[in-house]
Amino acid sequence: MSYSNLTLTTENDITTVVVDRPKKLNALNRKTLSEIHEAFVCLKDDEDTKLVILTGSGQKAFVAGADISEFADYSVAEGQDLSGTGHARVFDYIAHFPKPVIAAINGFALGGGLELAMAAHFRIASENAKLGLPETSLGVIPGYGGTQRLPQLVGKGRAMEMIMTAGMISAENALDYGLVNHVVTLDELLEYTEKIARKILNNSTVAVATAIETINAHFDKTKNGYETEIENFGKSFGTEDFKEGTTAFLEKRKPHFPGK
Ligand code: COA
Repeated sequence: MSYSNLTLTTENDITTVVVDRPKKLNALNRKTLSEIHEAFVCLKDDEDTKLVILTGSGQKAFVAGADISEFADYSVAEGQDLSGTGHARVFDYIAHFPKPVIAAINGFALGGGLELAMAAHFRIASENAKLGLPETSLGVIPGYGGTQRLPQLVGKGRAMEMIMTAGMISAENALDYGLVNHVVTLDELLEYTEKIARKILNNSTVAVATAIETINAHFDKTKNGYETEIENFGKSFGTEDFKEGTTAFLEKRKPHFPGK
């Protein structure tokens, strides 16, 4: 599959998805959003992909937001459709992706860009990163999950301040807020992210997928997270990975998970 605004590279079980519109600071226009959806649909069933790293091209931006030029003259109904479709096809899709998705934030992560990073399962930033939800400065609110995921990650007060001021915070601030897990130099960003990815890939892919689903249940008002945990914990006992993991421990060797 070839893409106009994305670059995909798969190596040793990891696919790196690069949003690649550097002249527009990787802003998410319709085409890019649609390509991100298509890419993730393919990666879901791709046996060579066990983990996804999401980043932006160039040294300046992860993603500088939704493409403002595209929605400047939208109506109320078009605005709702833009948000609803984006949630379903991209942002929720990534948040519930059964393989780990790590955002490597290499510069500006603003508006839809920060929302994309927040849809990923966790985030690592380079020192030059600047993060924010500037939508209120444009007369709108965040529409790709930002009003919900930001308070989940940083708490209500900080989210209120970030969204109401429309300001940007530094990578160090984002680390302090818990919005990103690590901050490294731009040169180290991908290597460091891959190092963490490798640690994840040593573990059972089935258990990791189940953990993503179960942690997400905490934030789903239609679910009881504890009940989901009890059910999914039980299901783990029926997997081949569980048999291998426990047998390997008892035999004092490294497990070779079949991923089933
Ligand atoms: N939508 C559409 N185009 C965007 C964009 C966005 N969100 N963010 C940047 N671009 C474009 C600029 O229009 C410019 O295009 P041009 O060269 O054809 O004029 C190009 O990317 C480079 O951006 P520029 O503003 O010249 O870079 P800068 O270094 O001066 O400023 C930012 C960088 C990120 C501070 C600035 O681009 C910005 O504020 N972007 C919008 C951020 C935003 O509000 N995002 C939320 C959208 S909901």
